[in-house]
Amino acid sequence: MSKPRKILVTSALPYANGPIHLGHMLEAIQTDSWVRFQRMRGHQCQYVCAEDAHGTPIMLNAKKQGITPQQLIDRVRAEHTRDFEGFNISFDHYSSTHTDTNRALSRQIYSSLKDGGYVDVRSIEQFYDPKENMFLPDRFIKGECPKCGTADQYGDSCESCGSTYSPNDLKNPKSAVSGETPEKRPSDHHFVQLAKFEPMLKDWVHSGRLQDEVANKLNEWFEGGLQDWDISRDEPYFGFQIPGTEDKYFYVWVDAPIGYMAASKELFDKTGQAFDAYWRADDETELYHFIGKDIIYFHCLFWPAMLTGGGFRKPTAVFAHGFLTVNGTKMSKSRGTFISAETWLEHLPADPLRYYICAKLSDGLADIDLNLEDFVARVNSDLVGKVVNIASRCAGFVKRFFDSTLATELPDPALYQRFLHESENIAADFENRRYSAAIRRIMTLADQANKYIDDNKPWVAIKDESRRDEVHAVCTQGINLFRVLSTWLKPVIPATIEKAELFLNDGQLQWSSIDKPLLDHQIATFVPLMTRVDDKIVDKVVEASKQSLQPSAPVAAVEQTPTIDINQFMAVDLRVARVIEASHVEGADKLLRLKLDVGELGQRQVFAGIKAAYDADALVNQHVVLVANLAPRKMRFGVSEGMVLAAGPGGKDIHVISPGDGAKAGMRVK
Ligand code: MSP
Ligand code: ZN
Repeated sequence: MSKPRKILVTSALPYANGPIHLGHMLEAIQTDSWVRFQRMRGHQCQYVCAEDAHGTPIMLNAKKQGITPQQLIDRVRAEHTRDFEGFNISFDHYSSTHTDTNRALSRQIYSSLKDGGYVDVRSIEQFYDPKENMFLPDRFIKGECPKCGTADQYGDSCESCGSTYSPNDLKNPKSAVSGETPEKRPSDHHFVQLAKFEPMLKDWVHSGRLQDEVANKLNEWFEGGLQDWDISRDEPYFGFQIPGTEDKYFYVWVDAPIGYMAASKELFDKTGQAFDAYWRADDETELYHFIGKDIIYFHCLFWPAMLTGGGFRKPTAVFAHGFLTVNGTKMSKSRGTFISAETWLEHLPADPLRYYICAKLSDGLADIDLNLEDFVARVNSDLVGKVVNIASRCAGFVKRFFDSTLATELPDPALYQRFLHESENIAADFENRRYSAAIRRIMTLADQANKYIDDNKPWVAIKDESRRDEVHAVCTQGINLFRVLSTWLKPVIPATIEKAELFLNDGQLQWSSIDKPLLDHQIATFVPLMTRVDDKIVDKVVEASKQSLQPSAPVAAVEQTPTIDINQFMAVDLRVARVIEASHVEGADKLLRLKLDVGELGQRQVFAGIKAAYDADALVNQHVVLVANLAPRKMRFGVSEGMVLAAGPGGKDIHVISPGDGAKAGMRVK
């Protein structure tokens, strides 16, 4: 056998600021399946990841919750680790960017960049929140879009017209933290002069290592000219202080990728491996980063520049993937398709999702759709109906009639060889991240294995004593074909195949172990490897995803309404809605069913307790105010998708709030 490769793999570090969702999981599943494949091929493949623990959002989130950033990142870390374990993501080490190792490496790289003459310090003016005493990142400034005038837009881009701009151009800017009008203040910032790395970066892009779509994107950026990169942030900031400064911190995107190095250093220190073999030299080791398409800029421009400036090697390749959509659209909290890893695992095992994602993944940047109906059909048909079925059709006979022992030879060695012929093609597909192509090949052979059993009908032959040997032979062939399929599927559905390994009773499956069939070998009792996915369970996942948005603990009863901050208020999406239809609800004496036109947000059905005060017909064509982003609630009569604002104690004394003249459906209410 050729020399084992030494491979270090990462997936992007999730922010320690929210739950792991199925989008993150797509990346972890893609990476983990690849890593497991490499290990099964006999290579030394190590997989590290970490929490991305720094930055303004994490600092502010902790403050809002009344805890320290350290407490927040510790808690989130525990949740993330639990979720990754639940999906059998086989990290060799899972760290955090908030460690001493990472601090030391970040300083070291910064110093090298500085000594190399790549860092320029100059004063720039930025928005400052005088109430919170902090400079505001673009995302924490809101105002009117300079292009189209839409209110309440972030400091970097407009959600309404899609234009991007600098926060300086926003009209009527406000701090999203305090609501105050920010003022301009000067401050020294540290910039990495990216243009100095341009020749190196161009070489790298044209090395043929990057996906075509990624290389094209990079070429566009080169054409636009590489801008200096601002790597410093003023205090208060949760991060690492920049050496030689009192009040400057590394921007989170500096120490985040360095976190890959730090995580691997911790692993190498523990296992006695040489850090430099992976990070200085690139002749004996391979380094790969799996990332989403939204963070290509950071990984393909900034990161190679930092590595080169620091005297380190560049990645062997960066593998970018598309985004997960659910039922054809972006994951949506109100539709219940923003599914957390935790919610998924409360209802379903990991392997069906791992399988489905791999069955759809390619080596490109296309988005991957999790269509829940198709998911159920595909998993039941492929895994339960085809793969598991092969073993379950043969195992019983071998146990009952042949003392659980396989025959001494295969009746159809040619068929077995046809399977083996595909093995290197499947390996090449996995190696090149053509997961769906690999799965297609495997399932085609699973069909052939089932056909073999169908053609030979051991359940008929067993009735005839004189055909016992034939049954033994057919089942031995079937179980061996199952063993080959299991081997190929093991990187994708490890928990299921672990049960298959117990059944086959021959230790751990390796890619090369299928070269010889299992003969004259005692197998263990067959236990069902996987049960059918019930389509009602998928509905429950969606329902639970809607519910998990509702506050988990009841708000304590207080005399005076507790204050909310501007963020909480901004989170309420109030919209003008026009009543299209109003009707009585059978069996409900207080409710009217309203059909509302909410402009760009489409139509909504809302149940409102205003029947005693309003004549249904009189409401038609009236404008009302709608809480548009309230999680939909299932009521006895249907789903209520929002709430209409009204004032008064109830009954006849309730008054729907009118947005006044000139209001149009869909307008935001401030
Ligand atoms: N913290 C940064 C990464 C730093 S790496 C040095 C970050 N974190 S993230 O939590 O927002 O995203 C982590 C990874 O998940 C990224 O690769 C991102 O592209 C991926 N995904 C997040 N949502 C996704 C989908 N809906 N679908 C697929 N991947 C997605 O970015
Ligand atoms: Zn705009």
